[in-house]
Amino acid sequence: MIGAHRVALAAPDDFDGWRDAARALAEAGVPPTAIVWDVAGAEPDLFGAPAEAAPPPAGGASFAVPRDFIALAKAAICHSDAERFALLYALLLKLRSNRRALEDRADPLVDRLERLAKEVRRDAHKMHAFVRFREVEADGETRFVAWFEPDHHIVRREAGFFVRRFANMRWSILTPEVSIHWDGATLSEGPGATRRDAPDGDPVEETWKTYYASIFNPARVKVKAMLKEMPKKYWANMPETALVPSLLAGAQAREAAMIATSRSQEESAMPRRTPTPDRVPSPGGGGNLAAAWAALKQDALGCTRCHLYKCATQTVFGEGALDARILFVGEQPGDQEDLAGRPFVGPAGEVFNAALEEAGIDRSATYVTNAVKHFKFVQRGKRRIHQSPDAGEISACRWWIEQERELIRPPLTVALGATAARSLFGKIMAIGKNRGVPHSLPDGGEGWITVHPSFLLRLPDEAARRDERRKFVDDLKRIRERAEALAA
Ligand code: URA
Repeated sequence: MIGAHRVALAAPDDFDGWRDAARALAEAGVPPTAIVWDVAGAEPDLFGAPAEAAPPPAGGASFAVPRDFIALAKAAICHSDAERFALLYALLLKLRSNRRALEDRADPLVDRLERLAKEVRRDAHKMHAFVRFREVEADGETRFVAWFEPDHHIVRREAGFFVRRFANMRWSILTPEVSIHWDGATLSEGPGATRRDAPDGDPVEETWKTYYASIFNPARVKVKAMLKEMPKKYWANMPETALVPSLLAGAQAREAAMIATSRSQEESAMPRRTPTPDRVPSPGGGGNLAAAWAALKQDALGCTRCHLYKCATQTVFGEGALDARILFVGEQPGDQEDLAGRPFVGPAGEVFNAALEEAGIDRSATYVTNAVKHFKFVQRGKRRIHQSPDAGEISACRWWIEQERELIRPPLTVALGATAARSLFGKIMAIGKNRGVPHSLPDGGEGWITVHPSFLLRLPDEAARRDERRKFVDDLKRIRERAEALAA
């Protein structure tokens, strides 16, 4: 019975509509070939079901699907591939008979849907990175307007990111399919637009150009990689790309100057192997990456994104090599870190340092930071007792870690413990189940998970401590080997 059911979806990314219909169809045992998925406003499928085909059956009892499937479906449904609804439905049917079907990465269906989801996440990452607002005056108020052309239907999915990041601005993002508007309190949606609807250059561009020139690191220029990250299609929207030819032209000379400067510093017995925040050379007064990092840290020192700043002594920002191959993320500063203003310098830091050494990792060549940058505690007499940050605090602080990772771009990011994993993956990740193997981070980087060093401190008996410590060091060794393999 080809084309016996026609499902009308409200939008190309209508996950709820797809889920409700898919559940009911799956319960009724309808095969994927007997369904046509129509999206409102899109060309109807001429070869699918006739217009009078039956709607999906009314929903029966629903069955549980793994949480990972929901995440996969929410991402894949935003892909522009017309087959996505049917593919997801086929996988849903598989899950109905085998709850572990998603674990079979060799299954072409799982593989294809994973690829769709990955492409959507990559598109989202580009949107985060390449949306450029122009300042306009409208009805006596300032508004920021950006034009962006995503490859997939990601605009609604990513609206929350821009709301969080630019909560205090009034802004609009115009795209060919839909426009979204934020007035400081409410998000609204309008029809698609054209590039002509978006304003051209304005003073904001000058700020961007200055910022971009200051973070442009000549030693990192890889033109092919740059074009891959920043497809030409986006260049027209990005004021800083006007600077690229001249920055590229000067890059070789500046890189040579950087090498010369760093060599002369090494000759003068600088203790560390890699550029660090303290000593990144700044040829020609550029300062580039180190300057951008220092500005970011400066901003973080005044952070009031959640209430934790009120009781903590100071923001404890990350530190280490800005060209680190491994970025470690802890939970939050402890009592001693809060006083010193540096991560992992207390008892957990001692455990961490010793384990790193045993695993053959030079801490000074890594970057170490925390998911939450302020110490959360309750006062008991003279003692300040650590309290784990909650989901809201982790989420408020994610802004900083995203910026740190964006600047450093480490090949590997390692979550030390559950809070860090939650911050990096945006969801709860069981440590036992996920440790010791690579995972894709939502933004496309490679993430690893292991225990937090203070977990070892809390273990009551010596034997358990020894055993867990060995596992921790083994995880770190695997991470070192992976970092070396990626660099080879
Ligand atoms: N625990 C952490 O997670 N981070 C620190 O910096 C110190 C202790």
